[in-house]
Amino acid sequence: MSNIIKGNSEILNKARVFEEESMKNIQVEQKPSFHLSAPVGWINDPNGFSKFSGEYHLFYQYHPYDTKWGPMHWGHSKTKDFIKWEQLPVALAPDKEYDLEGCFSGSAIELEGKHVLMYTGVIDKIQEDGSHLIRQTQCIAIGDGIDYEKLECNPVITSYSLPEDSNLEDFRDPKIWKDKDDFYAVVGSRHADGSGQILLYKSQDLHGWNLVNVLDRSENKIGRMWECPDFFKLDGSDIMIISPQEVKAEGLKFHNGHNTVYLIGEYDKENYKFNRYDYGVIDYGLDFYAPQTLEAEDGRRIMIGWMQSWENNIVPGDFKWCGMMSIPRELTVKDGHLIQNPIREIKNYYKNTVKYENISVNNSMELPNISGRELDMSIEINGENCEEFTINIAKNEEYVTLITFDSRKNLISFDRSYSAKLGDSLHKREMNVRNKNGNIKLRLIIDKYSIEIFVNDGEQVMTSTYYTMLDATDISFNAKGNATINIEKHDIVLT
Ligand code: FRU
Repeated sequence: MSNIIKGNSEILNKARVFEEESMKNIQVEQKPSFHLSAPVGWINDPNGFSKFSGEYHLFYQYHPYDTKWGPMHWGHSKTKDFIKWEQLPVALAPDKEYDLEGCFSGSAIELEGKHVLMYTGVIDKIQEDGSHLIRQTQCIAIGDGIDYEKLECNPVITSYSLPEDSNLEDFRDPKIWKDKDDFYAVVGSRHADGSGQILLYKSQDLHGWNLVNVLDRSENKIGRMWECPDFFKLDGSDIMIISPQEVKAEGLKFHNGHNTVYLIGEYDKENYKFNRYDYGVIDYGLDFYAPQTLEAEDGRRIMIGWMQSWENNIVPGDFKWCGMMSIPRELTVKDGHLIQNPIREIKNYYKNTVKYENISVNNSMELPNISGRELDMSIEINGENCEEFTINIAKNEEYVTLITFDSRKNLISFDRSYSAKLGDSLHKREMNVRNKNGNIKLRLIIDKYSIEIFVNDGEQVMTSTYYTMLDATDISFNAKGNATINIEKHDIVLT
């Protein structure tokens, strides 16, 4: 077996063999074509999104043996252009006494030709009195882009270094970076009051780490536990990304339970203080969580997220794989807001481009050559004289998924109630959009089971999945009133 390495643990080799064998039984046609998806079994958070040896690597939380979450491994893929992914063998398995319950989320950097992974090791020991001792610690593994060796001195950060008044069980998801000669990591943690906090650690050699400061805290205002932090400078601002759990809904925001938020402010590097000015929603859809970023070779800040939700997993039961990642997104900051746009490399895969200008829609209509389940389609809608404009996608005689623009209420809604999922779960999300006198620009990235709706050049994004059978490829438009639209559609074809 090509993937078996002698020095690897049995647990890792078993996962590698299982992955290699069972991937053969999954039809490629069933999988999304330009979004990374689970090779087999279950995936969640993106991990270790990093540049290494001239390529971009992505790891992910992975339980190959089942389509449900289980003892976490790190699955592994790489790409040259963020669109076409190559599968690599499983990178980490829960095989040490400090990570037996799982190798939880983390990050990676390239260092002197080596690939350094920092992850959370989890243990859950049953005590004599029957209680559980759960601990999460931060660990390091170093490798060559395929095989990784866990450090002898692991774990490198334990719960002993938590600030006083911290919960000892929730301490995870380190995001590591190097600045001059020092290494830093932000780690998610929980204050004794139950709410999230982000801790900053510093190290000179990757082995010894010291707590430097608490960079920010929820104080139970932006949800409770803060998972999967990321921290970087962008266009003159400092951005911290967090994935808070149990956020209270505010109007149309924060209905997923698990949410994604960016905190924007100023980081005082000398004194290790983050002064937060504001915060905002990263994604308004049903399926987006735990995003992570990297800085690309050319300086672009690229973010990728898990395109599924903890609460509403609607993957069909007969699929042997469960979980996809979002399209990598280019981030910028404009007027204090985070702007997201699909990675520009998608343009290299455009085929069958179709453009329509000034089409007037006053009822229900289809347009020649506008259909399909793998596309990048931009629509400019002038809906001044139209109450509601609906785009129906993944449609056949029985099923349809709807995106509706209500120009009076300045509202976009996504609705998958009729997308073939039997039984109700959360199927609808709405978001307020900027009032532009009845005009809106939508860019829809569609890949078999997902739609990412980028509004007004990336001001807002709404990401959701739907698992309608793949022969439902029709697209149609509906207007209550009179709308005028411009469309540009490209099929995405990977060869
Ligand atoms: C977020 C998360 C992380 C954790 C991982 C476990 O989705 O809960 O905090 O490391 O998933 O799989």
